[in-house]
Amino acid sequence: MIKLSSLFQLILVFWSVSLVGEVWGEVRGEHAVRSLSQNGQHYRPRPRQNGQNGNQGGNGGNNGNNGNNGNKNNNNNGQPDTSAFNIVNGRIFTPGLGIILAPQPFTPMGGDFLHIALDVSGDGKLPVPPLSTADPLTEIFNITLFLTSNTLQKNFTISNITTNTPPFANIMLQEPGQTVKHINFEWPDCLVGDGKEDIGTTARGEYNISIHQNFRLNGSEHYSIFNLPIQVTNSIPQFPGADQLLTKPPPGPLSVNGGRMNCDSISNPLMDINQLVQSVNNPPGQPFQDIAIETTAKDDKGGGGQVGGPGNANPNPNGGNIGNNPGNAEGQVGFAVKGLRASVLDAAFAAGLVILGTSVGW
Ligand SMILES: *[C@@H]1O[C@H](CO)[C@@H](O)[C@H](O)[C@H]1NC(C)=O
Ligand SMILES: *[C@@H]1O[C@H](CO)[C@@H](O)[C@H](O)[C@H]1NC(C)=O
Ligand SMILES: *[C@@H]1O[C@H](CO)[C@@H](O)[C@H](O)[C@H]1NC(C)=O
Ligand SMILES: *[C@@H]1O[C@H](CO)[C@@H](O)[C@H](O)[C@H]1NC(C)=O
Ligand SMILES: *[C@@H]1O[C@H](CO)[C@@H](O)[C@H](O)[C@H]1NC(C)=O
Repeated sequence: MIKLSSLFQLILVFWSVSLVGEVWGEVRGEHAVRSLSQNGQHYRPRPRQNGQNGNQGGNGGNNGNNGNNGNKNNNNNGQPDTSAFNIVNGRIFTPGLGIILAPQPFTPMGGDFLHIALDVSGDGKLPVPPLSTADPLTEIFNITLFLTSNTLQKNFTISNITTNTPPFANIMLQEPGQTVKHINFEWPDCLVGDGKEDIGTTARGEYNISIHQNFRLNGSEHYSIFNLPIQVTNSIPQFPGADQLLTKPPPGPLSVNGGRMNCDSISNPLMDINQLVQSVNNPPGQPFQDIAIETTAKDDKGGGGQVGGPGNANPNPNGGNIGNNPGNAEGQVGFAVKGLRASVLDAAFAAGLVILGTSVGW
């Protein structure tokens, strides 16, 4: 490694730490006002932007992160149709207890690693380790993740409870006490590319982040799979910057020499969609929205979880009251709310950016 002057190094470290702060901030919904995506156009991913089909982007084309306007189309003109997704304030509800905070569906991705943020606390209603999660009514048993593509015939392990090192480790046990788990998956080598290649010529392209959840809901055990579509189309460098290791948890898996894993070494057989459909045992409705979360454990969050009522479970402060029910319209929030609220700069990009920036000259 080339030595940098220690002053320069110091500046870089500070800069990256502050950016990492942004990543976490966004993940926790504290990102309402400041948005990298608005301030720095050059950070923006290539495809899927508002108003690319001209200036029909609604209110000025910049839908921002705190669009409180209750506008029915959420200023989504020019974006993929996400209406099949159950998105409330940028949080994606799954047929399980996990709530995805990042990335948003159809986000074009790249950078050094894939960043996923998952709320495993049942929106604050469930305890997280090191507290005991055992509860005869509602608990998460385990969550595993895969990066899959039917079109490309790929199924890579992201997290499968194999080692003690994230992301293979049990995500419930990492970041003790934190309700949001951050999964930083180092892109394997076959996904390296400059973002200019034609779709279909490489292993890059459309993928699902496939989230498998084993859980108990209101006394019954369930197993669900939720597929979150992303596009692996942005630039992914062959050699990730060393300082990505400042990210917590550190991105992985890495090869023995610290580089990207060979794709074959994290590949799994791809199952037929019918097999998958037969393997699941979904709950009769969406937890939180259709089925009240009932717990017997004492809620340690201090009033956050009103047992039996998802109505006011909307503590997310980042604005964005979707639809026409601002405030405490009990029982309304979360029902049939459609559409992606805003084009949120995804945390993985920001994280990748840290590396991009700091790897210059390192
Ligand atoms: C996940 O939980 C299910 C249900 O309790 C259990 O059968 C399975 O073995 C667990 N998987 C792992 C990898 O621990
Ligand atoms: C993602 O999953 C959905 C089903 O959940 C499937 O229809 C779609 O083809 C998958 N996309 C890819 C690229 O495999
Ligand atoms: C987890 O994934 C890794 C990489 O694909 C694989 O080597 C390992 O066998 C898997 N573990 C289990 C329990 O499936
Ligand atoms: C991917 O591999 C894992 C581990 O073998 C499996 O559980 C999962 O169902 C597979 N996913 C797909 C889409 O084939
Ligand atoms: C939860 O289970 C209890 C006991 O079986 C039942 O009385 C209640 O209606 C169930 N709640 C929901 C929302 O399904």
